Amino acid sequence: MSQNTAAALCNDPVTPCRKVAFVGSECYPFVKTGGLGDVMYALPRALLKEDCEVRVILPLYNCMADKYKKMLEYKGSFMMDLTLEGRTFYVGIMEAEMDGVTYDFIDNKEFFDWGNPYTGLWEDIPKYCFFSKASLAVLNYLGWIPDIIHCHDWQAALVPMYLRTHFAITPVGEAKSVLTIHNLRFQGICSIPHLKYWSGLPDHLFHYPWLKINDDEANMFKGGLAFADWITTVSATYAQEIQTSDFGEGLDNHLRYHSPKLSGIVNGIDVDIWNSATDKLLEAPYDESDFLEKKILNKRALQQKMGLEQDDGKMVLGLVSRLTDQKGLDLIDTIFTRIMDGNTQVVVLGTGDSRYENAFRYYESKYKGLVSAKITYNESIAHAIYAGADAFLVPSLFEPCGLTQLIAMRYGTIPIVRETGGLKDTVLPYNPEENTGNGFTFCLYRPDDLLDAVNRAKTVFFTDRWRWDEMVRRDMQKDVSWEKSAAQYADLYDRLSGE
Ligand code: ADP
Ligand code: GLC
Repeated sequence: MSQNTAAALCNDPVTPCRKVAFVGSECYPFVKTGGLGDVMYALPRALLKEDCEVRVILPLYNCMADKYKKMLEYKGSFMMDLTLEGRTFYVGIMEAEMDGVTYDFIDNKEFFDWGNPYTGLWEDIPKYCFFSKASLAVLNYLGWIPDIIHCHDWQAALVPMYLRTHFAITPVGEAKSVLTIHNLRFQGICSIPHLKYWSGLPDHLFHYPWLKINDDEANMFKGGLAFADWITTVSATYAQEIQTSDFGEGLDNHLRYHSPKLSGIVNGIDVDIWNSATDKLLEAPYDESDFLEKKILNKRALQQKMGLEQDDGKMVLGLVSRLTDQKGLDLIDTIFTRIMDGNTQVVVLGTGDSRYENAFRYYESKYKGLVSAKITYNESIAHAIYAGADAFLVPSLFEPCGLTQLIAMRYGTIPIVRETGGLKDTVLPYNPEENTGNGFTFCLYRPDDLLDAVNRAKTVFFTDRWRWDEMVRRDMQKDVSWEKSAAQYADLYDRLSGE
């Protein structure tokens, strides 16, 4: 980005412009497998309004669509050493600018030509050692020295470690680092020799306070959390949960130790992309004033698109999710036949574990016209479900934040969620006496408790439609944007860079 553009962005005469580099493994619309991709897209844009200048550093995966590859401009290249032996690797920089955010893609065919972003830990460990080290080398090469390097998940967790070792006395070594935990389940664990070889990090970091977790293994996330100047996670509740053995994924002690530098900042969603009034993928766009007439048109279109009976009287439950244990799908599987009461339809969109893919395929064949399962990743079907369903299931075992319940609410589709992580922080339980709340919630991870929540939702939907519609309106009006949370990140950046 030119100096002029940067200056134009820094429009607050009092607050100095902060320079922030985001480092992470995926970013919508270039490459997205889940919520991390959404955050890497939406938060930098929201930070522009907080007087931040933001660069996003990403791997240049071969699987990126051609239309995005064509946007990229070559900015330079150099050779970088990696591994214990000091082998050298090519680092190319391909750049794009979109709406004020600069995206720098790191090009290296050996590491990023494999197909999907994540192909298995054996290859992913070298890939993200290279990516983390190259991110810092790219910032030095470009001469763009940020105040803050904001790293995301285990794939970028070695950045804070390289920053204080190999790069400590280079220009970028001045920056402070923030490491955000989007999902503690994935940590980048491998044998100590494998990580020692590929990272080239010094021996003394392979001890217990840093990377080591047992006699044989090292953990990239653990080392990064120890070295980061600050740790955030994506909701206040998850920030507490991960300090317990139930949610800590083996790192609860480590996180308790580092808790003085740990805080939770809840995610938002991009309210321009997720806007039911302007969404081009919808049959009939709608807002709070006309959802009563228009949402039903989207429901009919969804029923048709998904091969369901077109029936306004049926209650449609939606699910858009990675199909993994995290998402509470075994609860849904256990109660499925009891949900199907003749007045209910279920639409599922997702890919993941074959156990769940097959279960939903089975229900589709068992309940023809009432259940539809699209076992695929598809943005346009996702939009159709958020708009056309009546209620939306997110019964997660754990959920650091969760974006699907936020999108559902913004589209006036009532969430049914378990009270964990960000689901607890964003969905206020429905209170019939006070006519308040955003959705139906349950606390304990038990099939019958989910069934009870679904039945409570059905009761209001079928017998008290006025209150249901009031809740739809409340949800559509709820602030699920990034505005407040981006301001909290900006405050955090200021505190750190002032230290
Ligand atoms: P996670 O990151 O754990 O998968 P989130 O709720 O944070 O969960 O984010 C999931 C994101 O991925 C949402 O934007 C959701 O719409 C999208 N998504 C998940 N599965 C699919 C799918 N099969 N097709 C399209 N979008 C999907
Ligand atoms: C992770 C979490 C999800 C969160 C997303 C974005 O994938 O599973 O809960 O919303 O990251 O932070």
